[in-house]
Amino acid sequence: MNADPIVGKSVPRKEGRDKVTGRSQYVDDMVLPNMLFGATVRSQMPRGRIKKITFGPDVAWDEFVIVSAKDIPGKNCIALIGDDQPCLATEFVNHPEEPILLLAHPDRHLLPKAIEAVSIEYDPSPSIFTIDESERRSQIIWGENNVFKTYLIEKGDLDSVWERANYIVEGEYSTGAQEQLYIENNGMIAAFDPAQGITVWGSLQCPYYIHKALMALCNLPAEKVRVVQMETGGAFGGKEEYPSMIAAHAALLAIKSGRPVKIIYDRLEDMVATTKRHPSRTRHRTAVSRDGKILGGEIDFTIDGGAYATLSSVVLSRGAIHAGGPYYWPSVRIKAKAVATNAPPHGAFRGFGAPQSLFAMERHMDRIAQTVGLSPVEIRRRNFLQPGQDTTTGQVIREPIDLGKLLDRALEISDYPAKKQRFAQQNQAGTSRKGMGVAAFLHGAGFTGSGERYLSSVVGVEGCADGSVRVLVSSTEFGQGTKTVLSQIAAEALGIPYESVSVAQPDTLEVPNSGPTVASRTVMVVGSLVKSAALGIAQTLISSNLVREGYSPDEFRAACRQHIVKHGPFRCWSRYEAPSGIFWDDEKYRGEAYAAFAWAVYIAEVSVDLTTYSVSVDDFVALQEVGKVLHPVLARGQIIGGIAQGIGFSLYEKVVWQNGRMQNGQMTNYIMPTASDLPPIRVFFEELGNVHGAYGAKGIGELPMDGPAPAIVNAVEDALGVRFDSIPLLPEDIMDALLNPSRQNDATLIGKGR
Ligand code: MOS
Repeated sequence: MNADPIVGKSVPRKEGRDKVTGRSQYVDDMVLPNMLFGATVRSQMPRGRIKKITFGPDVAWDEFVIVSAKDIPGKNCIALIGDDQPCLATEFVNHPEEPILLLAHPDRHLLPKAIEAVSIEYDPSPSIFTIDESERRSQIIWGENNVFKTYLIEKGDLDSVWERANYIVEGEYSTGAQEQLYIENNGMIAAFDPAQGITVWGSLQCPYYIHKALMALCNLPAEKVRVVQMETGGAFGGKEEYPSMIAAHAALLAIKSGRPVKIIYDRLEDMVATTKRHPSRTRHRTAVSRDGKILGGEIDFTIDGGAYATLSSVVLSRGAIHAGGPYYWPSVRIKAKAVATNAPPHGAFRGFGAPQSLFAMERHMDRIAQTVGLSPVEIRRRNFLQPGQDTTTGQVIREPIDLGKLLDRALEISDYPAKKQRFAQQNQAGTSRKGMGVAAFLHGAGFTGSGERYLSSVVGVEGCADGSVRVLVSSTEFGQGTKTVLSQIAAEALGIPYESVSVAQPDTLEVPNSGPTVASRTVMVVGSLVKSAALGIAQTLISSNLVREGYSPDEFRAACRQHIVKHGPFRCWSRYEAPSGIFWDDEKYRGEAYAAFAWAVYIAEVSVDLTTYSVSVDDFVALQEVGKVLHPVLARGQIIGGIAQGIGFSLYEKVVWQNGRMQNGQMTNYIMPTASDLPPIRVFFEELGNVHGAYGAKGIGELPMDGPAPAIVNAVEDALGVRFDSIPLLPEDIMDALLNPSRQNDATLIGKGR
């Protein structure tokens, strides 16, 4: 066995060398003989009926393969949760960039001109583009009422608290769409063989989502659909569901042409046509006691889902469950709603609804503080959830988390009290203003509620004759470190060197369905299964008397070989079983929403330039409790990257919409922060340990996306004394507010003093 633990050590990334030496194979590196290139003809209309499609002159159309909805062998939908999103529009379009036709040609350079030569006549219908318009229902564009999904979370006796309240604090907060901006654009290759069925290779997060979508679309049995993940250059949720669409398109072209077809989106198509973070609007109305305790409140959380339901119901669910933040609510009513607009469907993006509702909660806490006359620090301290108390869904906090202590440590590291004082003085003069902002938050790891039970994930570990082991999972590596950390877990469990473990390429022909790589679930949920499957290998060898406890790597190798000689391929499997005593009510939305929460306090220091109105984040302290840190370098990287994206979400990244279409679909005019825009990001961990995860690890991937926006906007308010409740917060918004102060003076105190 290993003398030194492997978990907790920053071992080299499994795929790191191949990536930095250029050996990694991304989908656009792959070339199949006789391959065609595919492209998509998309709607230019937000909403309307397709009247006529004309193929213009000057294009040798007989050289092109052309696919329409009529060519779909199975069901014309991208199967996901509901089946409302067509693969190709037939009679109606419901958003700009909706796919209508597919073209393929051996020369990829002829495709753009061919797309332009297809002209489509529409009967336009009135469209709606905002949450407010969707709620007004002047047009019903989806179902009977434009509503994809609602949830109601109720706790305690809310109706009685308004009488007892010393303050009633109201606020409305909104967040914009955000593009994931992975480095590698979306891409997919499909090949069809009547005997073997359809195979796709691509840049993706969830092989089995695509597998399910292709079965329905192509009307093929499971064994005739094969999905292989290529090296994937970033995803952030942006390759959770849309790759099913691209795989479907490539598959249809491959089936019709009988040749392999590659589809690679350029940046413009990727940005304007694929998913983004859901825009949101959150309204709070909170009853607060004289000493600043939350007595109860109403939270109305609404997200814009775009034209089809896709993942909106689950994004909404996570956003709603996180809407109360890390605070104790004796009573609450959370009304959550996802509505339809004529924009491309919004989708998964790191945080998945929680960054939206937590932005509102953490801005609102500062407003409550002002109303009551307490500091942002004190208001949080007085309301933090304590072990033994329960969340808004009634989940009792069982782990010994001490948020007050976390807050104290973050204040100390950031030198908060001294800086607050110093900035208050400095801000009397000069051409810039400085401020400090705090955000406290939590993030639930794994699928919500009974989600993991339904997923019922399976993991395999294979012992090989050379003494190495292979981890068999559908979990994908897309830069976050899946292969490395799962290998650490297997090596630790088996007591063999890290170098002896590899992770199979996710290929549905070879790996079981260990669920999608989303929801901060991979290390905690899949990692636990890897550990138990690995222990299965060790136990099998021990109980067959091939080795004894405490074996050496050499003994392990010999034992594996003997086992294979006797019994053939040597694999152990592990299937998820819900821990006992876990209760979740899907109807009432009550119970244990997540197996574990990670907890955090983030502190931002900003300065606002009074000449340019630009905000710079000067220092950022990120303190989190994530259970055991399995790989310090990767964990730190996750936090730093999430904060960088959070800075973009709050201060830079604005999707400019016109009639449901993104107008700034290039990286030159959709501005994200670069390395030079980032502050020192100082990352600290607390390690409480958690019984559910492998070696005590909780989910970490999405957490750091939740806190930066409210911490930063709270700091901007601290610097300027002006309130901002909407992000992205751009220099022009700040200029507008400072030059038109009357607008701000709906004033800070909506609360009634009693
Ligand atoms: Mo993720 S946003 O759960 O793909």
